[in-house]
Amino acid sequence: MALVGCGSALPAASVSNAALSERVDTNDAWIRSRTGIGARRVAGPDETLTSLAAEACTHALAHAGWSPESLDLILLATSSPDDLFGTAPRIQACLGARNAVAFDLTAACSGFLFALITTAQYIAGGSVRRALVIGADQLSRWVDWDDRRTCVLFGDGAAAVAVEACDADANGLLGFRMRSDGSRNGCLTLAQTDQRQALLGNLSAQRGGFAPIHMNGQEVYKFAVREVPAVLAEVLEACGTEANQLDWLLLHQANQRILDAVAERFKVPPERVLSNLASYGNTSAATIPLMLDEAVRDGRVKPGHRLASSGFGAGLSWGGALLRWSGPQG
Ligand code: COA
Repeated sequence: MALVGCGSALPAASVSNAALSERVDTNDAWIRSRTGIGARRVAGPDETLTSLAAEACTHALAHAGWSPESLDLILLATSSPDDLFGTAPRIQACLGARNAVAFDLTAACSGFLFALITTAQYIAGGSVRRALVIGADQLSRWVDWDDRRTCVLFGDGAAAVAVEACDADANGLLGFRMRSDGSRNGCLTLAQTDQRQALLGNLSAQRGGFAPIHMNGQEVYKFAVREVPAVLAEVLEACGTEANQLDWLLLHQANQRILDAVAERFKVPPERVLSNLASYGNTSAATIPLMLDEAVRDGRVKPGHRLASSGFGAGLSWGGALLRWSGPQG
């Protein structure tokens, strides 16, 4: 599977730390020093997950030089769908990708990496030739804007990567590992509320609805700085790759301190650690493709570059992959 194109889309409105401090008891210095975040994009009512993701896909298709009809698969990683029955088919309809099958995958901030790895299996099996892998989230709809421990962290965004079957020498997924540990699920949740509704006689049913994001920040932080280096070390070893052979660290953008800790573990210098936290915060499933798109567009990531990537977050779930960027073919 080769990584040949990318695209992204962001909501228009940017909310700075200073602006947020008008609503909750926080300040720019605290947020920047603890997280590296300076601002985040927040989607308005008309900027749906579907519209942002479809725009990102349109850019990725143009970058790859593909028609929508040539797609076999659209895989959307998201935890904040427009429709719990599935949002990917809506994106398919917007694109006019009538020959593709489209469905959603949920794995929180690991979602994009898990979706990319999943897509690689379809391509390796021969049933898919061309696919769009999307990471998109709008957690602004699910944070408690009065909870300063969480609302400062998250932002909205969508990004997509175009991938296709290729010869072995162009392979863009050189190795990977995926992990989850549901026993630690309570550290970070966006879970159903416990609301009953009387149905008939003694019979009652749950009413659907979700509580805002709940997080034990310190536990999640400890989890990330322990598991991300471990899983990346496994991937690099399996690929016979030394950290000094990497062109970039392309990690889930949750917290600059986590990026710095992982970089330090592998002795990757700061100038080879991709980070856009300052502008966008944590856009969950979107962070990795959003960061990739930015770095491809501004020329930092070039064809042939090797990137060590890791997604991690709720589940708890995490994974690592060694990627190679190909860029548009022909
Ligand atoms: N502004 C100002 N003060 C804040 C604050 C904010 N936005 N959020 C928390 N605080 C306060 C706390 O109330 C606490 O005050 P207290 O000591 O008077 O009770 C103090 O800051 C320290 O809180 P603590 O939670 O210990 O801070 P921390 O150093 O662990 O940083 C996080 C908090 C959330 C930034 C950090 O734990 C983190 O980044 N965790 C990982 C979160 C993450 O990445 N989640 C997504 C994973 S995909």
